[in-house]
Amino acid sequence: MRTPLFRGMKLNRWGAAISLLLLSSLFLAACGENSPSILNTVGPVAGEEAGLFWFILIVATIVFVFVEGWLIFSIVRYRARPNTPEPRQSHGNNTAELIWTIVPSIFLFAVLIGTIYTMFSLQNVSGSSKITVNVVAHQWWWEFDYPNNGGIVTADTLYIPKGAVVETNLYSNNVIHSFWIPQITGKTDDIPGHTNTKIFRADTAGVYEGLCTEFCGAQHAHMDFNVVVFNTMDEFNTWASQQQQAAQTPTDTLALQGMNIFKGAGGCTACHGIVGVNLSGYNDPKATGLVGPNLTHFGSRSLIAGGVLTNNAGNIDPNTGVLDHSVNNQCQPGNLSNCNLAKWLANPQAVKPGNDMFVNLTPDQINALVAYLESLQ
Ligand code: CUA
Repeated sequence: MRTPLFRGMKLNRWGAAISLLLLSSLFLAACGENSPSILNTVGPVAGEEAGLFWFILIVATIVFVFVEGWLIFSIVRYRARPNTPEPRQSHGNNTAELIWTIVPSIFLFAVLIGTIYTMFSLQNVSGSSKITVNVVAHQWWWEFDYPNNGGIVTADTLYIPKGAVVETNLYSNNVIHSFWIPQITGKTDDIPGHTNTKIFRADTAGVYEGLCTEFCGAQHAHMDFNVVVFNTMDEFNTWASQQQQAAQTPTDTLALQGMNIFKGAGGCTACHGIVGVNLSGYNDPKATGLVGPNLTHFGSRSLIAGGVLTNNAGNIDPNTGVLDHSVNNQCQPGNLSNCNLAKWLANPQAVKPGNDMFVNLTPDQINALVAYLESLQ
């Protein structure tokens, strides 16, 4: 007597529901215009990497469906039934052995070829122009140096022009970190005593998320950065020449008071540099010995201390990525209850335990320092 396959199961209905669920989760995963997903790419490097991901997923899906399908079919179709005789016993089958050796080899070879092809094309990124950035991983924040743009130094935000090849040299002065901009480029380690290089390009202006993706200590999760992609090389050059300027001496009394606290009683200059205050220029030899970020244009940055806080003295301009202090400024003198910079200066160890900053400032000193630092645009 022949037993029907899948007796009593409403296979069609269940199968359809499960397939729909799986498919929708796959599509929803890359949804949202601003999703920082590796599949929502804005440059050729992340694009090639996403392409390789889809290729391997397709190959793996074909193998999965075939193997699991055959397995389920065999379990159901050839299961033991009452009064069936024992199956024919055999040992070895050269044809079957050959097939299940050769077929998987072909699939793995396809994945190998796809991977090697992608690795080579990642080395060939071309663009309308070229910039060089030295990326220095600190514990726990990112420094970006522009050796061909007057040696300017920023922290927490990488600024690049759209369409240009960005050549980065990756350093670490402490432990191993890993540099990653999911929508623009995959991960590359920053290793102490060794320089890694990485080339990429961004093709859509905007502000993107970057992060550290190698466990590097207690605050590894708070080691983020922003990537601002300018629409044109001109905009980038304008930004760079503005950053090359030494810090303005403030005219405002409170900010001036803040500058003097920075230079003196606050003890800030032990770790931080400001061009025009305690540094003669970006290439001042003193600069290399400083533990903390260069603060020359701190007021134009949107993140504080590796992104543990946002600099909420304004809104980040989606076109320029620079902080616009005229809107939503939570750091008005004398009214700092919601100001993140004031929160940071009051107790950096409470905000980001284990970081290198130890200060003991009075509320009046904090008020003046916030006025000064936010004036450095
Ligand atoms: Cu740096 Cu994780």
